[in-house]
Order: sequence, then structure tokens, then C-alpha cells
Amino acid sequence: MAHFACAERESTEIYKLIIGCIVPRPIAFVATRSAAGQPNLAPFSFFNGVCSNPPTLAFSVIDRGTRMKDTSRNIGEHPEFVVHIVSESMAERMNVTCGDYGAHIDEFKEAGLTPVPGTVVDVPRVQEALVAMECRMTHQIRLGAKPPYASHFLGEILYWHLDDTLLLERGRIDPDVLKAIGRMADVEYTRTRDRFRMERPVIGEGDPRSVASYFASSKSAHGPGGKGRSN
Ligand SMILES: Cc1cc2nc3c(=O)[nH]c(=O)nc-3n(C[C@H](O)[C@H](O)[C@H](O)COP(=O)(O)O)c2cc1C
Repeated sequence: MAHFACAERESTEIYKLIIGCIVPRPIAFVATRSAAGQPNLAPFSFFNGVCSNPPTLAFSVIDRGTRMKDTSRNIGEHPEFVVHIVSESMAERMNVTCGDYGAHIDEFKEAGLTPVPGTVVDVPRVQEALVAMECRMTHQIRLGAKPPYASHFLGEILYWHLDDTLLLERGRIDPDVLKAIGRMADVEYTRTRDRFRMERPVIGEGDPRSVASYFASSKSAHGPGGKGRSN
């Protein structure tokens, strides 16, 4: 085992550890616009859903040296954005948008993606995405003690766009239709096709079973494919 404090290592090394160890990371495909109305699209994998009430997601944008990336600058000028989920079929078009381009470049156009007006936010969304979440920025937290700083954004999800093919019974999303991709380290990605189930154990007050006996007795009843449980 290696044991060391973050402070003993270069930040580039820590970056590699974070993106190599915290895997796979979901990808927020984020649309923003400048005050002047210039649209922007870029992917961010320091991303997750962080709360369902209020419905909230979060992602982080690391400055490019001493300059903010277009996404951070845009949200500072217009505090709304649309987050899309990247399906396998959109992977290459997403990759076109991650280049270090000047702010004048419209990534929608370059990637061949169709902008359509947001419903409740004044930011375009990607028509081809199976999932789009229109968000209002609620918090911007600047991180870091020296450049490159980062902006951690929290956004409240105000409005959903879900492709009809995604919905299963009882509001569940079909992962085999969504085919979301995840980010690994470097330029590697993963698919979400290889999944397995594990039922969550419950031993209520007054139930005499031990955890071990619970699992022994529930193996046959709640084995792979058993009934699901939320959160
Ligand atoms: C899959 C993927 C995930 C990325 N995740 C992040 C991230 O979490 N934070 C970040 O600052 N940059 C991330 N990047 C790099 C940005 O997408 C890239 O810097 C982009 O040019 C920023 O665009 P903008 O200047 O239009 O905002 C990621 C790139 C890819 C391809």
C-alpha cells in the first residue's frame, strides 16, 4: 500500500488519482449561453445528482489556467443551464464539443446537434438527447487557494425532457434504452450495460434475526432478480 498526504504530491498527480479512482463518473453535457446569447455546450464528469428534494445536481468546472472556461463564465452572466445525459449514440458528438475552442465557436453547430429553446430557462437544449434537465443555478462555490481555481455549481432541476422510449412501469428509466456512458481516466469511457442487483437488507425493531441469518434466509427469496427497493 502507498500512504501519503495530498499535500506531498503535485496537483497533476492528484488529478490523475481522482479521475482514475473515482470511476465511472457520469457525464453532464451542459448547455449554457452568454449574456449576449452565444450558446455553448461542453461535457463535465465531476458531476452527480446530489439531492431529490429539492431536485438538485452539481458539477465542477476547473478554470483553464487563470481563465474561466466558457461554461463558468456563461453561468456567471446568465445563471441557467441545461444538463443532458450522454447516450452511446451521442458519444462522438459529445467529444467534438470538449475542445479548447474560443468563445465564438458554437459547439451545437460543430457537433451537428440541434438547439431547441428551453421551456422554462432561456438556454437552448440538445434536441437529440434522450434526457435534458433545465436547471437554475442555486450556488456557485469557488474552490482552490491558487490557480487553476474551480467553480462548483449546484443547480435546481426545474423541468425535464424525457424521450418516450425511456419510461418503464412505475416511473423507472430503462437503462438499456438510455445507454448512458461514463468517464474513466484519460480518454477512456465505459458503457452501462453490465449490471447486477443486490437487495437491501432490512431488520426491523423487534426482529430477532441477526444480519448473518437474515442473509442466509433471504438468499433464495431475494436472489438476483428479486424485487427492487428505492434508496
Ligand atoms: C467526458 C469529459 C468530461 C470532462 N469533465 C470535466 C470536468 O468535470 N471539469 C472540467 O473543468 N472539464 C472537464 N472536461 C473538459 C471540458 O469539457 C473542456 O475543458 C471544455 O473545452 C470546456 O468547454 P467550455 O470552455 O466551452 O466551457 C471534460 C471533458 C470530457 C471529454
